[in-house]
Amino acid sequence: MNISPFIQGLPKAELHLHIEGTFEPELMFAIAARNHVELPYASVDELRAAYEFSNLQDFLDIYYQGMNVLVTREDFFDLTWAYLERVGGQGVRHVEIFFDPQGHTSRGVAFGTVIDGIWAALEKGASELDISFRLIMCFLRHLDEDDAFATLEAALPYRDRIAAVGLDSSEKGHPPSKFTRVFAKARELGIPAVAHAGEEGPPEYVAEALDLLKVKRIDHGNRALEDTDLTVRLAKTGMPLTVCPLSNLRLCVVEDLDRHPLPAMLEAGLMVTLNSDDPAFFGGYVNENYQAMKDHAGLSDAQLVEIAGNSFQAAFLDEARRKTLLDELAAYAAKSGVR
Ligand code: HPA
Ligand code: ZN
Repeated sequence: MNISPFIQGLPKAELHLHIEGTFEPELMFAIAARNHVELPYASVDELRAAYEFSNLQDFLDIYYQGMNVLVTREDFFDLTWAYLERVGGQGVRHVEIFFDPQGHTSRGVAFGTVIDGIWAALEKGASELDISFRLIMCFLRHLDEDDAFATLEAALPYRDRIAAVGLDSSEKGHPPSKFTRVFAKARELGIPAVAHAGEEGPPEYVAEALDLLKVKRIDHGNRALEDTDLTVRLAKTGMPLTVCPLSNLRLCVVEDLDRHPLPAMLEAGLMVTLNSDDPAFFGGYVNENYQAMKDHAGLSDAQLVEIAGNSFQAAFLDEARRKTLLDELAAYAAKSGVR
């Protein structure tokens, strides 16, 4: 996909990005080799050819298999640094990355190994690339409440590094209500929440995320549009949605990009942001998602600026940095003749 120079330079934040979903096949094979772990594919090409998904679960099966090769602090560092180096050239000025500790602790990798590796790369990205960051710890919703509680407990020594908790993995049959008490505990600790909702699950899951988990953002949220009252509520409260068009296409949440609900979301006055979700698996990083919506949903450059502005407004940023980034965006738009 050709990315327009305007999108390439547009200052933006990425708010919906699973760090394990940035694992490119080449790096996966390199790390597997150094850890003497076998991947069930003969080559990078064979692995890539397996990236044909008909739903979320198809993808998750391959996603969890891929992360099995991550063992050492260096592995988590290399994974995170590869992502930052890549998006540093794409106008990405702030990242809020998800990680799935249970995908690693369940295999005997220590929580500290995971977070130390990711954190060191994020700090390097801040100092060398001027990309600010936040880390969001996700609970795997297909696992039980006790497992989530144990994960929250394991995170306590790293409390100052956790900007928010999130909820991901298999949505259908695992409603937000399953984790009401865990999120209440996180809230008691002063940790805000986000949650995947309304990707494959019904609008009721979006309402539960708001009412029971008290989320500050909804990840995806596409199916909220099926419920008019809920849509009005999201619009009135300015609840941010982290929308991921290429993910939606590859997981068959939408039939094709021409029918993506983004225009309807904007029409309804929703506060949308554009993100990549699991870029190594879905055929594009954040700029490809912006470009796809320009090409298929007919978004104007002014609308792309508005969406980039939303990404800074919806971020867990301190106010000084937020102002710096919003000013940078305004200057870029003015220089580009967009108003
Ligand atoms: N949905 C739910 N869980 C996930 C996703 C997603 O798109 N990506 C990684 N874990
Ligand atoms: Zn996601």
